[in-house]
Amino acid sequence: DKGAYPFYMLKEIDEQPAVMRRLVSEYLDADGQPMVEEQMLADIADADHIYIIGAGTSYHAGLVGARMFEKFAKTPTTVHVSSEFAYEQPLLSAKPFFIFLSQSGETADSREVLVNVNKNHWPSLTITNVDKSTLSREATYTMLLFAGPEIAVASTKAYTAQIAVEAVLAKALGEYLKSEDAKDFDLKHELATVANGMQAITDSKDKLEEIVSHYLSKPRNAFYIGRGVDWAVSLEAALKLKEISYVQAEGFASGELKHGTIALIEKGTPVIGIITQDRTAGLTRSNLEETQARGASILTIVSRHLAKEDDTVILPDVNPYLTPLLSVVPAQLLAYYTSLGKGLDVDKPRNLAKSVTVQ
Ligand code: M6R
Repeated sequence: DKGAYPFYMLKEIDEQPAVMRRLVSEYLDADGQPMVEEQMLADIADADHIYIIGAGTSYHAGLVGARMFEKFAKTPTTVHVSSEFAYEQPLLSAKPFFIFLSQSGETADSREVLVNVNKNHWPSLTITNVDKSTLSREATYTMLLFAGPEIAVASTKAYTAQIAVEAVLAKALGEYLKSEDAKDFDLKHELATVANGMQAITDSKDKLEEIVSHYLSKPRNAFYIGRGVDWAVSLEAALKLKEISYVQAEGFASGELKHGTIALIEKGTPVIGIITQDRTAGLTRSNLEETQARGASILTIVSRHLAKEDDTVILPDVNPYLTPLLSVVPAQLLAYYTSLGKGLDVDKPRNLAKSVTVQ
């Protein structure tokens, strides 16, 4: 029931702080130690490579998670679109471990990959919102998202829950493997900070609605740009805008723009920079200026410690691996208000189904 909300999507965006807190209580004990099946950690520790499989938003959550498995658990990790992996399987390592990301647990393309994984007796984990879903039943292990039902076609709280569960797993695996980085990663504290930060962003909706009316209500095209995890979030932010507001949006690695795509920038094209990483902040800022010089209307979503006077949305500071949990929220709201302003059915965009059960 969506209660007083006009659309489920807005309700689900607002539920994200509560989902973060729920995940803390489900997966971290009083001392902040992860509560994760030991045998699963042993199986992943035994593997030489993690393959993450997903589609759409779940694929994007995988792009964020992979960096955490490499940082905190020192395990090489690659992320694959399930519909590609199913038919063009790359050369695999000797001891693969598969992680399936799927809100519904029913996505046909991902199921196709799992059938083959099982034929080869490779161990697997499904991270899903739906207990007893097909992907959950057929994988070796399951971790639940505890996000509550997600009704809107555009995935929001499942994306942030997937990233938080990946963080739990990265920490658990890293501690199992005695990584110092994992030990120092105070996830309980970080997720509490994230929850408060999400709350602050969802409390300032008016500002995002106003940005939409100035910059996004008319243009047919828009760009999100960033580097590293900010690029990963750019892909998700662009997908949100495309699927519910029908603005042709692209998420782009900001350094790649000048290799061709910058030709698309015209007067008034919105270019939104996501800036949360110390090493690349300056570079993304200069890439934004390059587009501004060609007429783009530039907007920024920036972590507080990197913020400058003219920035558009300022995010509370969190661990650099977890910034996607915050930077995606304004992007979800920008997509929501763009769709709303056009009078579209936010929850049920044209041509789309919540769960894609055909290949
Ligand atoms: O249920 P799944 O997570 O497997 O679904 C995958 C995609 O179909 C899904 O994330 C889709 O991209 C959403 N509509 C995005 O908002």
